Amino acid sequence: MDSLSVDHLIGIKDLTNNDIDLIFKTADAFKEVINRPIKKVPSLRDITIANLFFENSTRTRLSFELAEKRLSSDVVNFSAASSSVKKGETLIDTVNNILSMKVDMVVMRHPNPGAAKFLSERVDARVINAGDGTHEHPTQALLDAYSIRERLGTVKGKKVVIVGDILHSRVALSNIYCLQKLGAEVMVCGPTTLIPKYIHELGVKVEHNLVKALEWCDVANMLRIQLERQDIKYFPSLREYSMQYGLTKEILDNLDKKIVVMHPGPINRGVEITSDVADSEQAIILQQVENGVAVRMAVIYLLASKIKRQ
Ligand code: CP
Repeated sequence: MDSLSVDHLIGIKDLTNNDIDLIFKTADAFKEVINRPIKKVPSLRDITIANLFFENSTRTRLSFELAEKRLSSDVVNFSAASSSVKKGETLIDTVNNILSMKVDMVVMRHPNPGAAKFLSERVDARVINAGDGTHEHPTQALLDAYSIRERLGTVKGKKVVIVGDILHSRVALSNIYCLQKLGAEVMVCGPTTLIPKYIHELGVKVEHNLVKALEWCDVANMLRIQLERQDIKYFPSLREYSMQYGLTKEILDNLDKKIVVMHPGPINRGVEITSDVADSEQAIILQQVENGVAVRMAVIYLLASKIKRQ
């Protein structure tokens, strides 16, 4: 059986093109499974997975839990807000206590960049990064690229613009790595203050005018403004941001081609995207969420196949 070149999924940067192809082919098979009346396979009956969320999440947490249950693994959920972390317990002590209950794999979201890698180097379990601060969100990028492939047939040669708060976005960084590995051209668009200074080192185009960016692209991935990560004001007001960078139906309809609209969620309707765009047939936002389960099943299944079973 083909296997991944990595033992943990920390970032897209670590994956080879063969890894991504293997994840997509495996996800194709699992997508077929989750559309059956019985949406479950017995593959991971002997595996226990802990979902550790030190930061809020709706889609990623539920998607991982569903993916794990569809693979028949045992699942334990941990939320920092209601845990002994509040009493001062460290990350390593928390995780080692959970692992002593015979856990094989850890899915972790954490506010600190590098937290997943730190953990993977210190514990005897497979680690999947479910978002580490402003660093990477690898499964989001995989499900985004998978959704582009599904809608447009391929990612290779497509032009993708990522719009909004690039500076604070782990989704942007993971998407840039993933799309480039798959042969797409990538542009970022947003106010100068929300574009990182090192952006040119990543080999992406930069455009500050939303309409010009949309005229260039096949796919627009609209990002949320991450107010929770902004310690200073990067633009005068959300209203002003929305007037310059919000995607409206009028802008979409005035383009001379039908682009695909994506959003990783959670959406701030009326800020980065209006409701009529989010709910339009050009938007694949809910397909992204659906594909998230199949892609995460694939990642979990492939990493679990590297665990030595007794
Ligand atoms: N896309 C994403 O990571 O959403 P959540 O924060 O709800 O998990």
